[in-house]
Amino acid sequence: MDYRIIGLDPSNYGKLANIWDMERHAELAKRFYAEIISGNRKSYVFEAEGEYIGEISLVFDKNDPDYTIAGKRIYVSRLIVKLSERRKGVGRALVDFAVEKARELGYSEMSIGVDIDNYPAIRLYWEKGFDRILFVGEDEDGKYFKLLKQI
Ligand SMILES: CC(C)(COP(=O)(O)OP(=O)(O)OC[C@H]1O[C@@H](n2cnc3c(N)ncnc32)[C@H](O)[C@@H]1OP(=O)(O)O)[C@@H](O)C(=O)NCCC(=O)NCCS
Repeated sequence: MDYRIIGLDPSNYGKLANIWDMERHAELAKRFYAEIISGNRKSYVFEAEGEYIGEISLVFDKNDPDYTIAGKRIYVSRLIVKLSERRKGVGRALVDFAVEKARELGYSEMSIGVDIDNYPAIRLYWEKGFDRILFVGEDEDGKYFKLLKQI
């Protein structure tokens, strides 16, 4: 497979619709775009044969010290792989890439939030070393973990 992971150019933001339903999640799409433009979110895409099939983002300030500490702890957001392309190693490659980017940016810790019933994601994060549970909580989407990894 001919593939690469690249920083998302905001002018290509609409191409993420190949990965997830941006119309159905219009509010979310709008919020993420605004964060990209503000510089608080950096998004990366997995492109295979010219098609966007996976996405991951780094967020610098989540306004929650569990998730972000300036210059030290960075938050991983919106890891998602197109349904038909799952279980082929794309998610793993995106996490590895995000860790490398965060290291390059000088961060030593990486946090993530994941629903406790999201077994695929928890298994992937555990494998990748997100082995410290910072918090177990509940929001409108149900119970979730805040996980941490030293990078
Ligand atoms: C979580 C997600 C990003 C994984 O992407 P992926 O490309 O399918 O993951 P990979 O193929 O790299 O899998 C890596 C490992 O994760 C675990 N994993 C991934 N999908 C799994 C599944 N359906 N069941 C069990 N384990 C799974 C496995 O350990 C897998 O390794 P293996 O295939 O060698 O057994 C994908 O399922 C997804 O987009 N889910 C919806 C969005 C989401 O929940 N994102 C996380 C939000 S916190």
